[in-house]
Amino acid sequence: MGLESIKYKDGKLEILDQLLLPLESNYIQIKGVEDGWKAINKMQVRGAPAIAIVGCLSLAVELYNEKFDEKKVLRQEIEGKLNYLVSARPTAVNMKIAADDLQLLVNNLEQDSNVQSAEDMKTKFISVIEAMLDKDVNDNIAIGNFGAKAILDKTPGDTLIRVLTHCNTGSLATAGYGTALGVVRSLHKLKKLEHVYCTETRPYNQGARLTAYELVHDKVPSTLIVDSMVAALMRTRNINAVVVGADRVAANGDTANKIGTYQIAVLARYHNVPFYVCAPFTSIDFNITNGDQIPIEERPDREMTYVGGHRIAAPGINCWNPSFDVTPAKLITAVVTERGIFAPCDLLSQKDTIISTAN
Ligand code: MRU
Repeated sequence: MGLESIKYKDGKLEILDQLLLPLESNYIQIKGVEDGWKAINKMQVRGAPAIAIVGCLSLAVELYNEKFDEKKVLRQEIEGKLNYLVSARPTAVNMKIAADDLQLLVNNLEQDSNVQSAEDMKTKFISVIEAMLDKDVNDNIAIGNFGAKAILDKTPGDTLIRVLTHCNTGSLATAGYGTALGVVRSLHKLKKLEHVYCTETRPYNQGARLTAYELVHDKVPSTLIVDSMVAALMRTRNINAVVVGADRVAANGDTANKIGTYQIAVLARYHNVPFYVCAPFTSIDFNITNGDQIPIEERPDREMTYVGGHRIAAPGINCWNPSFDVTPAKLITAVVTERGIFAPCDLLSQKDTIISTAN
């Protein structure tokens, strides 16, 4: 049974508290938008797709238990709550894209004379949010399979694959299966994976705590390294590919992802290792032309200076703690999506093919 980080049924939402992993597996109930916002902001749930899904489901939960007499009042309520959810974390674009899409949907439902009551409108709106869970898993399986094929196509003969991944992009960061970790899962299922290396991913340790947890859980042959070992790993361990996720891909392919991704891409280019960004279209922001326009979240110093309640840095030292960095498109071999593999410069050609849930 795969890891289930988000449990939802009939207006009830629970998430696995990722602040406690890997030592404790504890589900917390999300009773509405306020709880959803806090869980995202505190990083009890994290990873761009999971942030959007939990944010939107927290709205579904809240609406589930309220009664509305007027369609206009329901539309206004949804509009305010969506704007609030988008403010929980700034870099990952998935929540913003979902919010824009749902805003369009609710505007259309308000105008649609076939949707007669506010309760009718609410039911239709909630069912679109509920569909996000299955869609994300299906998208991730497609990403996994496309990515595995791209890596195998570039590797001669019967060579088994050795990959490096960064941060956590698996079942814990999505509705299930994962994006870059989905590629690892697909290679493993095909019996083509020799080994996956995951970085510790300082300062929040998503690699050591979460990716390592998923890999051990699924019995995937894997090894943890600290972030400063990447160059040595590439020089000595014959890595066939790097697979990472994305928090926001700009229209030109520049990609914001977990801090440290950029330096891995530089090292991959130096060592001639293909570097793949694996992300659904809900992580692509066609409204910005390049990565300089991506807002980069800065997290509290405490996430650097403490590990599990123990201070590890000298008191009084200044800290800089950007949570993400931007990898220039020219260092990215390809972007692996649910619709196939694209050179970064070809993403823009897909802009007008995006289908909104509002239609
Ligand atoms: O700060 P986080 O843990 O939310 O950052 C997560 C990442 O950077 C992931 O690589 C990205 O969101 C993709 S998850 C499929």
